[in-house]
Order: sequence, then structure tokens, then C-alpha cells
Amino acid sequence: MTTLRPFTCNDLFKFNNVNLDPLTETYGLSFYMHYLSHWPEYIQVAESPSGEIMGYIMGKAEGHGENWHGHVTALTVSPDYRRLGLAAMLMKYLEDVSEKKQAYFVDLFVRVSNKVAITMYQQLGYIVYRTVLEYYNGDPDEDAYGRRISKKSEEIAKTSEIFHETFSGHLAEILRKLNPIRIESN
Ligand SMILES: CC(C)(COP(=O)(O)OP(=O)(O)OC[C@H]1O[C@@H](n2cnc3c(N)ncnc32)[C@H](O)[C@@H]1OP(=O)(O)O)[C@@H](O)C(=O)NCCC(=O)NCCS
Repeated sequence: MTTLRPFTCNDLFKFNNVNLDPLTETYGLSFYMHYLSHWPEYIQVAESPSGEIMGYIMGKAEGHGENWHGHVTALTVSPDYRRLGLAAMLMKYLEDVSEKKQAYFVDLFVRVSNKVAITMYQQLGYIVYRTVLEYYNGDPDEDAYGRRISKKSEEIAKTSEIFHETFSGHLAEILRKLNPIRIESN
């Protein structure tokens, strides 16, 4: 059974099995501390029954006004536990936290060469909204796709579709009453 629990400082001593992956960034200690102190609800670990870290997600809430959103800073799953739906579960967790904070969308960056993650984010409904040139430092630097999902805008689109159908039905009825001949000839 997998347990989803908050990330703690002690996990920094236990996450090597996950972080040795070349596509997983390892940050400085202060970076993790900053996230743990500012957005503890956004850092979660998936733990195995034996206490091993299977994967984790790290994120934050940021932006003002209509740019208020959840951001995925890191998402990684140990090679031993891949393709079990763990990343999808962690993403769902972060989206739910963001939804509770009334975020307008969730966004993230992904390396243009990271085909597996790109496929996964596509599968989860994320769309590319921009490409940031040389976002990742390295030799050479690498571009990133900025991907975004907007639960609220999906709902707004759905609502406006329903509104449109309802409104056009009423409008047709009103026009029929006002000008039956013209409506019938259409
Ligand atoms: C990307 C990563 C997080 C996926 O983790 P995961 O737990 O294996 O992913 P899930 O099992 O939740 O997969 C969700 C969906 O993503 C897609 N997917 C995941 N791995 C895939 C693969 N190797 N090939 C094709 N599609 C894949 C599938 O559509 C999958 O759904 P399905 O299994 O029902 O078909 C993991 O491979 C990883 O840690 N990679 C290294 C770090 C990284 O790239 N992080 C992302 C940085 S932005």
C-alpha cells in the first residue's frame, strides 16, 4: 500500500533513490527549507510500506489576481515504482490543493527532450502555452515547455456552452413570437 504524507526535513536524507535520476533536479538545502516553510501543504511524499520514498511532488501557490495559480516545481517517481499511477496521483493532489485555494490554473515547466513527462502531462490534460528558450542551465542549455491546465476555465467554457444553448433556445422562442413568418422561413 502507498501512503501519501507531507514531506519532512528527514526525507532529504532518504530521497537519493529518487533524485539520482538525471531528469530530477536536486536543489540546495535552503531551497527545500523555503518550500517547507512557505508551502508545506504543497510538498507530499508517496511512501512504500517499508518506509522507502517512492516519489514526491513539490510546488507552491503564486501570482496575483487572475494569475493566482498553483505551480509544480518538482515531480519525480523512483524508477522502481514507475507506471503505477503515482505521478498522476501526486498531480491530482496538487491540483486539489490549488483548487481549494481558488487558483485559476496549475502550471509547470518541462524539458523539451523529456518525452515521457510530456506524454504524461498531455495525458493529464496540460497544454503547452509557451516555450521558454534556454530555461534549463547545462551544456548546452535546454528550452522548456510551459504547460498549464485550467480547471476553472474548463468549467467556464462548459457553463457558457450551456448558457449559449439555453439562451439561443429562449431567443428563438422570443423571435418566433415577435415575428413568426420570418422564423418559419429560416
Ligand atoms: C515522468 C514521471 C514522473 C512519471 O511517473 P509515473 O508514476 O511513472 O507516471 P504514472 O504512472 O502516473 O503515469 C501517468 C501517465 O503518464 C504516461 N506515462 C508515464 N510514463 C510513461 C512512459 N514511460 N511512456 C509513455 N507514457 C508514460 C501514461 O499516459 C500514464 O498513464 P497510463 O499508465 O495509464 O498509460 C517519472 O517517469 C519520472 O519521475 N521521471 C523522471 C523525473 C521527471 O521527468 N519528472 C518530470 C519533470 S517535469
